[in-house]
Amino acid sequence: MSAKADRPQAGAAPNGLMRVLDAAFGHPRGLAGRLGGTVMAWGNRRQERWAVDRAELRPGHRVIMVGCGPGVGVALAIEQVFPSGFVRGVDPSATMRAMANRRCAGPIAAGAVEISEGTAEHTSCTDQSMDVAISVNNVMLWERVPGFTEMFRALRPGGLLVLTVHRHVLPDPADNLRTHAVAAGFVDVTLTERRRRWNSPAVELIARRPR
Ligand SMILES: C[S@@+](CC[C@H](N)C(=O)[O-])C[C@H]1O[C@@H](n2cnc3c(N)ncnc32)[C@H](O)[C@@H]1O
Repeated sequence: MSAKADRPQAGAAPNGLMRVLDAAFGHPRGLAGRLGGTVMAWGNRRQERWAVDRAELRPGHRVIMVGCGPGVGVALAIEQVFPSGFVRGVDPSATMRAMANRRCAGPIAAGAVEISEGTAEHTSCTDQSMDVAISVNNVMLWERVPGFTEMFRALRPGGLLVLTVHRHVLPDPADNLRTHAVAAGFVDVTLTERRRRWNSPAVELIARRPR
């Protein structure tokens, strides 16, 4: 299956509204991207919190956070792994990286956080170098096969993948995430949907690289 072919398509070609939403949230850029980043920092904080809480983080852990957006999850994760741990946030959007750099300026200056250009498919992590990989609200933008393969490659044996996404932004059945995780080699895969009052259910996947 080609990389393009394994990403479920949302359907019709983007119209004007879709382009604005993409510039705000999907591939944030310009003014719309900065506004989108502000909305995400506020609206997705609880989901970032959930992911960090489920990641079993301890001081000294090394964390890769893909699609880190404005950096809320990076800031939460470094609190758990500081002072000996390290968090690497990657995002393809320069607008998001600038927001994350501002939010995490303190731990960046201390050498505990790095924000870099990257995607789930290309993290630039060395093989088996990370204890935990976290993804919040970006799996709908991945090329799924290379994305899950890259998460597996970057994690050490026994390392944990924690992924969550709004149900309504997934263009295909949530259970396909489990299928992709298993195909990449993950074990102990759990997939749940948590109902929320003001949003569609949060799809939550936890998976482990075999020890
Ligand atoms: C909806 S935002 C989510 C940001 C943040 N995690 C949150 O929940 O608020 C999606 C983010 O994914 C990034 N992104 C786009 N393509 C990506 C990919 N292939 N892999 C990882 N992240 C990607 C975007 O630049 C954007 O910052």
